[in-house]
Amino acid sequence: MGFYYEKVVRPVLFRMDPEKAHDLGVTALDYLGRVRPLCRFMEWWNLVEPPRPIKLFGLEFPNAVGLAAGMDKNGRFWRAGPALGFGHVEIGTVTYRQQPGNERPRVFRYPEHGAIINRMGFNNEGAEAIASRLRQQLGGGGKTRRIPLGINIGKSRIVPLDQAVEDYLHSFRSLVDYADYIVVNVSSPNTRDLRKLQAEDQLDVLLAELRESNLSRARKLGQQPTPLLLKIAPDLSFREIDNVLETLERREVNGIVATNTTVERPQPMHRVRESGGLSGAPLHRRSLQVVNYIHRCTGGRLPIIGVGGISGPETAGAMMDAGATLVQIYSGMVYKGPFVAKGIARALAPRQSNWI
Ligand SMILES: Cc1cc2nc3c(=O)[nH]c(=O)nc-3n(C[C@H](O)[C@H](O)[C@H](O)COP(=O)(O)O)c2cc1C
Repeated sequence: MGFYYEKVVRPVLFRMDPEKAHDLGVTALDYLGRVRPLCRFMEWWNLVEPPRPIKLFGLEFPNAVGLAAGMDKNGRFWRAGPALGFGHVEIGTVTYRQQPGNERPRVFRYPEHGAIINRMGFNNEGAEAIASRLRQQLGGGGKTRRIPLGINIGKSRIVPLDQAVEDYLHSFRSLVDYADYIVVNVSSPNTRDLRKLQAEDQLDVLLAELRESNLSRARKLGQQPTPLLLKIAPDLSFREIDNVLETLERREVNGIVATNTTVERPQPMHRVRESGGLSGAPLHRRSLQVVNYIHRCTGGRLPIIGVGGISGPETAGAMMDAGATLVQIYSGMVYKGPFVAKGIARALAPRQSNWI
């Protein structure tokens, strides 16, 4: 399947503007997600399910490979995720306010390096519109689905930093009913000042408030609280990561997604001047370092979703060796095609059977 993608489909898509090609893919997958019998057949064919699922923060993941945030920003096609072989899908980033994002062009491919630079700026339809889409898709609520659905939330552009907590809380309250887990994104380089929320005092307030809201909702409904995770940038220093980890422990955050895109331009991209976040192969080394550092600092107690430059069994295996429990893919899907998850999940399956 990957062969046909690389030889036939990719050359056509890569002749188009990257965002147009992306929109076309989203529309196709949106249609696929609506055709239930076809999805079920494709699931049977593509979804690798070792005998024992991965159990993490009260959820069951059929395999270790997920679709990273940013691909399905508006929750349009996540239902097709298992048909593509993904063991979980993270939608978003969703902001409370609907927003158009930055001016186009804002996505750039570097096929010779297996990389992408983007400065999308959280273009999305807004938390309430996306909540109502999810409500419709799920037929009135409930959390019955084939694979866990993560919802990634971020700060609305027009909201100043000192009102960010309220803004995240609004998104959280709008979306939590539909999420198996929530990711708090404080690490996109494309929303001004957003990454300042990674600083200890700001992060502490943000996570404390979200936790409180989560706990009081759970008490009211007589349910377990929804797992909360934090997504961090690869550009933090180790000392900054130490502070983040202390805050996560204090606020009993369930896990960490590492990493988002980088504003650095590691080799061989050091001469590229395009602004935005870099993802794909050149990010892999730094993401591995960050994941490994977190794993060592926390003695393996904090679940880590490893993201950054994963495009096949080897890079995914390295991420698991570094300490990740699950992995996610974005750029690898652009370069290797929509069915990239299957081969990776199959390669990781023996590790899954050895756990727990
Ligand atoms: C075009 C594009 C848009 C993205 N949008 C988001 C986003 O909205 N929220 C987010 O948390 N990460 C976003 N990401 C980052 C990915 O989720 C992922 O963390 C990063 O690309 C590293 O993984 P990769 O090397 O497999 O692409 C985006 C990445 C790309 C390339």
